[in-house]
Amino acid sequence: MSADGVDLKKRRFLTAATSVVGAVGTGFVVYPFLAAWAPSEKAKAAGAPVEADISKLEPGQMMTAKWRGKPVWIIHRTEQNLKDLPGMVDRLADPNSDLPQQPEYCKNATRSLKPEYMVTVGICTHLGCSPTYRPEMAPADLGPNWKGGFFCPCHGSRFDMAGRVYAGVPAPTNLVVPKHYFMSDTRILIGEDGGAA
Ligand code: FES
Repeated sequence: MSADGVDLKKRRFLTAATSVVGAVGTGFVVYPFLAAWAPSEKAKAAGAPVEADISKLEPGQMMTAKWRGKPVWIIHRTEQNLKDLPGMVDRLADPNSDLPQQPEYCKNATRSLKPEYMVTVGICTHLGCSPTYRPEMAPADLGPNWKGGFFCPCHGSRFDMAGRVYAGVPAPTNLVVPKHYFMSDTRILIGEDGGAA
């Protein structure tokens, strides 16, 4: 007890307690700021766009981003892949991408914004399995005419290196190309089209 009758022990406790409340209070002020910058898991699942860094993606390689809970593949096509695409036309169900499985700006010979980069949802259009990336030429199990593409192990659907479905397989349509655009040479935003038509 001090000379003015104040219990010093009690005062120290109260001072400490006030500091803790102050710190927690500050935490609550800062948190909403951070939350505004990072989309929540709920927002991502609902469709917030996703950014992908393709700076290390070599020709022939594929990487996967996750958008709306789905795998989105980004493939860096080789020169040979691009040369082979026109020769696939007779084997495909929708070679000119007439069905709306892509944004208008990807309704072209490579189904892409830049020929060397393919962006597509990695889900089979038959019953939703995830096809396998098979970039090799003429592997024994896919036959001598195989020029790279995607093979669905569930019921045997095949897609070429532009995600176009072969004729006569269970999958009825080409793989879906999501809205996307290039923020720079090495970054793609998936889920938005940057104002493109
Ligand atoms: S789910 Fe791909 S072929 Fe059936």
